[in-house]
Amino acid sequence: MIRHLCLIGILALLFVAGTWHDGFPLEEMETPHLAKSEGIEGGEKTSLGARTVVIPTPVWVIGSYDKEGKPNVMTSSWVGICCSKPASLMTCLRKATYTHGNIMERKAFTVNIAAESSAHQAAYVGRVSGRNVDKFKKTGLTPIKSSLVDAPYIKEFPLIVECRLTKTVELGSHTMFIGEIRDVKADQTILSEAGVPDIEKLKPFVFAPGSSKFYGIGQSLGSVSDLAKATENK
Ligand SMILES: Cc1cc2nc3c(=O)[nH]c(=O)nc-3n(C[C@H](O)[C@H](O)[C@H](O)COP(=O)(O)O)c2cc1C
Repeated sequence: MIRHLCLIGILALLFVAGTWHDGFPLEEMETPHLAKSEGIEGGEKTSLGARTVVIPTPVWVIGSYDKEGKPNVMTSSWVGICCSKPASLMTCLRKATYTHGNIMERKAFTVNIAAESSAHQAAYVGRVSGRNVDKFKKTGLTPIKSSLVDAPYIKEFPLIVECRLTKTVELGSHTMFIGEIRDVKADQTILSEAGVPDIEKLKPFVFAPGSSKFYGIGQSLGSVSDLAKATENK
């Protein structure tokens, strides 16, 4: 009986170890399945299955306070802007993350956008939990208390968004947290002459879920209106 229970325990551990990676499902980090090269009617595409291998995704670092007021940060790539009026964005988190409980409790979070030079810190805070580690201490990053929302932001990251939680949507594995943008704060050094964040000055980077790598962003392809004109004038 005890031998059977041990065997079941070992099998369960192997399953969990093979499916999860530092709390982030492997399915979202790497490519555990082989592509199916079956014929698709009317196209030459290869079916990859119903998976989240859509590239690229942004890399946002989400700031929050826990019940005791300890600041925490975690990386999130299941994110995006979701409304213009009221200006809102969303981040989708698993209940297993410490940040999930923090945002539920404090009804606020910040989004911190890193420059390429901070890629190692953005990677680290996406691999360990604030439940076990003081990530600010470990990374040497500085938490600053927002005066607008009940969440900290990262002093060293050049672009910050302060959000008030307005809605949560249970999707399945993830909860979508929708935050109303209360303010966007930027270092002077990353602003264009027009006073908006300049991507070439900020040098943000993106995530490729299939390969689990960060990539820098290449040069501009031109303004949307100029590019559209090229097709309009064809
Ligand atoms: C590039 C990257 C993107 C990630 N995106 C998400 C995400 O969108 N949602 C999520 O629940 N976890 C995501 N994770 C995993 C969390 O960051 C990780 O589980 C982290 O340890 C949670 O920290 P916390 O427990 O301190 O909140 C991501 C990890 C990496 C490296």
